[in-house]
Amino acid sequence: MKFPKDFLFGAASASYQVEGAWNEDGKGISNWDIFSKIPGKTFEGTNGDVAVDHYHRYKEDVKLMAEMGLESYRFSISWPRIIPDGDGKVNEKGIEFYNNLINECLKYGIVPFVTLYHWDLPQTLEEAGGWTNKKTIDAFAKYAEVCFRAFGDRVKHWITFNETIVFCGHGYLAGAHPPGIVNDAKKYFQATHNVFVAHAKAVSKYKSLKQYGEIGITHVFNPAFSVDDKEENIFAAKHANYYDTFWFYDPILKGEYPEYVLDQLKEHGWTPDWTNEELDLLKASADKNDFIGLNYYQPKRVMKVESTEGFEANRENSTGAPGNPSFDGVYKTVMMKDKVYTKWGWEISPEGFLDGLRMLKERYGDVKLYITENGLGDEDPIIEDVIADVPRINFIKEHLKVIKKAIQEGINLKGYYAWSVIDLLSWLNGYKKQYGFIYVDHKNNLERKKKLSFYWYKNIIETRGEEL
Ligand code: BG6
Repeated sequence: MKFPKDFLFGAASASYQVEGAWNEDGKGISNWDIFSKIPGKTFEGTNGDVAVDHYHRYKEDVKLMAEMGLESYRFSISWPRIIPDGDGKVNEKGIEFYNNLINECLKYGIVPFVTLYHWDLPQTLEEAGGWTNKKTIDAFAKYAEVCFRAFGDRVKHWITFNETIVFCGHGYLAGAHPPGIVNDAKKYFQATHNVFVAHAKAVSKYKSLKQYGEIGITHVFNPAFSVDDKEENIFAAKHANYYDTFWFYDPILKGEYPEYVLDQLKEHGWTPDWTNEELDLLKASADKNDFIGLNYYQPKRVMKVESTEGFEANRENSTGAPGNPSFDGVYKTVMMKDKVYTKWGWEISPEGFLDGLRMLKERYGDVKLYITENGLGDEDPIIEDVIADVPRINFIKEHLKVIKKAIQEGINLKGYYAWSVIDLLSWLNGYKKQYGFIYVDHKNNLERKKKLSFYWYKNIIETRGEEL
């Protein structure tokens, strides 16, 4: 089987991780511009001031994407580049940059797939309470409208938010992302609710503009499985799926929150402050949402935790490796002897991907899905000048096979975006953890080089994955 003609083969990036030019052409300061410079917050103090200089080299980068045969490029817009203080005047230079980037993609027939929010919040909004402040909801809706009006004639695929669980969880529970708050569950749930409302407002606005494209949201896809058949661990896995998956997918796809979580939030005093108007808005926008983007890296193997005693937010493990108890102390994630892990301790499990996709189908039916991120973080070997990223090729190959299988089973998958198109800044792991098809030489003026995976993916796209 070849992948269907309307299936998009793409690759992705995010503004803070590639652009650089952090204070150029009128861009405002983002929360990450500040947070990454606090000693001890990022790997060896790395930050995105220069990143891989995509802001100045986007033409060279898009040309390489075209050479790879990429059908679509998923990138994000930096909010403070468009509206420097988050809620005020528009920066025309910012609009110009994304116009140029979009036009450059279209010149080669590459479909731009645009994320509005991939974590770089204008610092002025962060200081006013960030996602816990309801004013951020309206500021986001305004920013989204500016983008729809400026780019919507050419951009027909919009993602509102990237991975709400990560920026809210790391921001208000683990303290590893801005605003660096630890163990504040009340704020965490409030922030997630505000994000869902902001999403719903942006979706409504988009539909009212009648630009006839599609709009959705991207979530982490981290399905939980019990480590064994013990009842208490099966319960722990169910709990993990309710809190970490259904809490995020239900308000978007069903327009309401799962009762199981709601009841417990009430008991703990963690229920967000919400209005009936907001809840009605969620309800009303559920069928306007066109798709869900899934970022799949690994599943979760879970078991029950008896107590939270001794639990501290663990920064070492906060980048996604198993080993932490859940914030509420109900379950913990574990590494298993019979599983395979990357150098950063992330499980490699294409089977977990397929099982998870089946779980989603069971709960949400035929919802349209894009895999908006999937890839291998590795330190790529360079052998006689060849960047021999064979493990990455194998990783993507196995996951694409699963996608093919899922499509054959009737799961509505419409595209695949490898993370990442080019080596970029990992938020907490610097440049050491590489993901790209294109290598960036940090010792030689950020020179770009094609990896083995570049040629491999080009062939997959050309042959529409027939060999997989
Ligand atoms: C996703 C993010 O969570 O994972 C990306 O959307 C990120 O921005 C990617 O880079 C990989 O994470 P990490 O920690 O390995 O860089």
